[in-house]
Amino acid sequence: MNDAQSDTLKLLLMSDLHCTGAGGKRPLEAAARRLIFQNPNMRSGEETLDLLGSVVDKYAPAVDHILLAGDLTDTGAASELEAVAAALRGRDANLISVVPGNHDIARFYPFSNKENQRSVFKHAFSEFLTPGPNRLESDEYFPFVKTIKKGFVLVGLDSTILGRPIWALEGSLGEKQLRKISELLDSRAYSDSNLIFLIHHDPLARTGILPPHNVLADAARFKNLLFSALENKAARSICVIFGHTHEKKFECLRGVSFVCIPGFAFVKNKPCFTQIQINASGGLRGTF
Ligand SMILES: [Fe+2]
Repeated sequence: MNDAQSDTLKLLLMSDLHCTGAGGKRPLEAAARRLIFQNPNMRSGEETLDLLGSVVDKYAPAVDHILLAGDLTDTGAASELEAVAAALRGRDANLISVVPGNHDIARFYPFSNKENQRSVFKHAFSEFLTPGPNRLESDEYFPFVKTIKKGFVLVGLDSTILGRPIWALEGSLGEKQLRKISELLDSRAYSDSNLIFLIHHDPLARTGILPPHNVLADAARFKNLLFSALENKAARSICVIFGHTHEKKFECLRGVSFVCIPGFAFVKNKPCFTQIQINASGGLRGTF
């Protein structure tokens, strides 16, 4: 839907596709991952891709934008990344945005070299990122910023940590990204906009003593930037959209909305996604 008269933003949210073995390669790794997850409801890569295509085809005409919050693949293999990107291609690229998850960037084998993994991800999904392929090689690529509808600005973040093994679940935004987020908010360029932050890791997840350390290491700093930005009216509203913990949840903290998207891959025969609407003044409602 691209109704210029409408002042409400309609979003379709998906996350944690974990497309294991998608693209027909790495069948042993896919089988091993399914065994480790021990989740009989986990879809195969091909089932997930089919469902992704049908959900996008069905809901794209009714929404302004589609967001995918990472862990699009399970092992981060180039064949998996390419298979998911291919399932999204052919649709209006201006309608879809993605960010990476820890599985998209992780090392599956202990000694594999994944130094260029961010580059592999960015090239596979280049048309769903912004501002274009000329910056794809840059470490400074994230955060990306794009206006997805008049008055609604999307900020895409990378919370993955390069070189971590597949069982390591934690994330971090890092100093450079936090500084850029701070600069973006301090600029007051978006004081009349509703800001939507898309990130893989859950900034609300609580840390524990034992692994898995599911958390975003710098979540407190990230949230404090958003809280003070809203208090200082640097944005009309702020909404943070994420996945990773596979939970369906919504919380509002100090005026900032937090929406966690359920895991797409883990309920057999039932598409797992969320739809939300944000109105011009930042009011949010959805199918939680
Ligand atoms: Fe994740």
